[in-house]
Amino acid sequence: MTVADWALRADGLAFAYAGGAPTFEDISLGVRPREIVALLGGSGCGKSTLLRVLAGLQPPTAGRVQFLGAPLPEPSPRSALVFQQASLLPWLNVTANAGFGLDFARQPKIARAEHAQRVQDAIAAVGLAGSEKRYPAALSGGMAQRVALARALARQPELLFADEPFSALDAITRAEMQTLLVDVVHRWHTAALLVTHDIDEAILVADRIILMGGRPGAIVREWQVDLPRPRLADGEAVSKLRLDILAALQGQRTTASTTTESTI
Ligand SMILES: Nc1ncnc2c1ncn2[C@@H]1O[C@H](COP(=O)(O)OP(=O)(O)OP(=O)(O)O)[C@@H](O)[C@H]1O
Ligand SMILES: [Mg+2]
Repeated sequence: MTVADWALRADGLAFAYAGGAPTFEDISLGVRPREIVALLGGSGCGKSTLLRVLAGLQPPTAGRVQFLGAPLPEPSPRSALVFQQASLLPWLNVTANAGFGLDFARQPKIARAEHAQRVQDAIAAVGLAGSEKRYPAALSGGMAQRVALARALARQPELLFADEPFSALDAITRAEMQTLLVDVVHRWHTAALLVTHDIDEAILVADRIILMGGRPGAIVREWQVDLPRPRLADGEAVSKLRLDILAALQGQRTTASTTTESTI
């Protein structure tokens, strides 16, 4: 594949916070158009830092990032980000929050009618039609995260960056949101890079799983997940993959843990 075949391509990436040891070194990875990639790893291994570098929010100390075949000096308007907290503006209703930023200077100019249509479509896609006039104080955590997802979709991104977007939600809402994410990513024809420390989330959502670990952080292993959807958490193939990932995790840890928890 040439670089133009990737939505996102990173080669030889390294990063160190000022005056600190390297957070990660020599990371090369790619996300194909319409592909959902999960970046999985334990707490503190550098996933969020890597995501910020990949999204153009932070320059790498070495290596390069290319987005849609071009170097990425700053965040691209053709990508969108979703974080663990929905970060809604409390004085704006659902519609205004979902449309927030769409008319910022670096965004492509769009006509007012298209702006309204995009926001309306995005709100409907995340299942919030009818809640347009609500304010953040009247939304549950899951609804707030739906608004954050709608705000990302309204940009019609080529790539959605998501950093543990569901980890603050209860298990049932999280499962709903995982299904929703796969659904909207497919319908919107966008690619997604999902940071998670939840093995089951990675298996249920991703087309490919990249395991990150070590100090400094590096890519430990990668799995192509060709299982049909919807994937059941207790399916045989899912259980086998889950064990394989756990074994890889334990193998790369200096002090092997005996945990069988799916959250690392
Ligand atoms: N702004 C910062 N300045 C200095 N060091 C930082 C900063 N942000 C993160 N770090 C350090 O960089 C390392 C990687 O942090 P990062 O947040 O990328 O990890 P993570 O894998 O996302 O962890 P988690 O799963 O807990 O979110 C950690 O050791 C952290 O303490
Ligand atoms: Mg993080």
